[in-house]
Amino acid sequence: MSDSVTIIDNRTGKQIECPVLTGKYGAPVIDTSRLYKELGVFTLDPGFGTTASCKSAITYLDGDEGILLHRGYPIEQLAEKSTYTELCYLLLNGELPDQNQMADFEHDLKMHSMTHEHLSRFYNGYRYDAHPMSIMSGVFAAIASYYHDATDIRNPEHRLMTAKRVIGKIPNVAAKCYRHASGLPFVYPDNSRDYVENFMYMMFSWPSEEYKPSPVALRALDLLFILHADHEQNASTSTVRLAASAEANPFACVAAGICTLWGKAHGGANEAVINMLTEIERPENIPKYIARAKDKDDPFRLMGFGHRVYKNYDPRARIIQQAVYDLMDEMNLNQPMFEIAMELEKIALNDEYFIERKLYPNVDFYSGLIYQALRIPTEMFTVMFAMARSAGWIAQWMELMEDPDFRIGRPRQLYTGQEKRDYVQIKDR
Ligand code: SDX
Repeated sequence: MSDSVTIIDNRTGKQIECPVLTGKYGAPVIDTSRLYKELGVFTLDPGFGTTASCKSAITYLDGDEGILLHRGYPIEQLAEKSTYTELCYLLLNGELPDQNQMADFEHDLKMHSMTHEHLSRFYNGYRYDAHPMSIMSGVFAAIASYYHDATDIRNPEHRLMTAKRVIGKIPNVAAKCYRHASGLPFVYPDNSRDYVENFMYMMFSWPSEEYKPSPVALRALDLLFILHADHEQNASTSTVRLAASAEANPFACVAAGICTLWGKAHGGANEAVINMLTEIERPENIPKYIARAKDKDDPFRLMGFGHRVYKNYDPRARIIQQAVYDLMDEMNLNQPMFEIAMELEKIALNDEYFIERKLYPNVDFYSGLIYQALRIPTEMFTVMFAMARSAGWIAQWMELMEDPDFRIGRPRQLYTGQEKRDYVQIKDR
């Protein structure tokens, strides 16, 4: 039996043998790249639910088993034993660093923690109440205009330099989005602090006071960054890859990813969850919202629930839920809101509608509770997601640039418009 499938066009009797490719894990894929040439047909898959866009060795998800691996390492082990900057190294290089490699990598990130002084003027172009994701995407695209020394995307050294610049600078940009909205002076990075503490320093320090965040808070934020770092070919990563396939500037590709993540169906869900829990306000109001989520005529969806791939508990949600539980006392977490979230989860997971559709809490359902406890404003939650995901985006960008099958992404369509017709002058219409 050959590793192929035969597709027969019953309209013409013509058929094609399509190779079946098998990876390390997960569903094999049918290579349909010759389908149009041989049978004159396209495939149609709205939302790309069963379409593999690329080969990748970075992250593996098993949606049925709730498994998430980064370069083969289970997210549970990385969450317990690793750090965000170590995971960044792993995503970029494919292997965990030794102590020297880690020290060099963290040094390089610190050397790229500043942004050009003129870039700081960009923030003033935004109203004080502009959504920080709007600011972050615009400013990040603008970074492309400051770096002309490592722009050869075919040069591996330039690619690695760009990756370190993206990961090194994004905390600076994220913190400035918050400082601009708060009317606070911008804070330069303090490279005597490690990556996560430097970010919190740029976010919350006062020029007139010493800043010492709690180790518990720093570990909680590092954990959230680990859990949000990469996630296979999600919408924003696919956007970054599509922009990269056109050989666009990598900072512009990341900016495109930021814009996509902003959507509340994607990274914007963490902000929407807190807004939803705030609106629910009391456990006795939960049934009303569950009913709305089930009502086909109501656009309301249970934010933080459901996932295209996970048809089981999102392993990240389980880790965050436990972290919220563990940190409840130490971090003054919003216990009433946590109780509403837990009750909402319990009711939903026992409701036929959610069971039948395999709708479980996802990474966004609990993350906002920790961000809240860190005094991060709700509208900044997706900025936090984007900051962490920048490592995954740029790792996937690097992988695409090295892909021997690299070519511009250009999907086709099923045309359902008007037949060909002639133009009519306006006086004759
Ligand atoms: C992220 O892809 C990734 O990996 C993303 C992410 C990452 O790390 O990059 O994991 C991060 O984006 C997590 C998802 C955050 N979004 C939300 O929490 C928003 C709420 N969730 C939904 O919008 C939805 O579940 C999606 C967008 C996440 C998934 O949408 P799908 O896969 O297109 O699912 P679907 O719309 O086909 O839903 C199937 C059924 C439908 O009902 P029927 O038409 O079959 O009757 O489930 C229903 C949907 O109406 N449904 C929900 C629901 N999610 C799906 N009903 C109520 N509430 C929900 N949250």
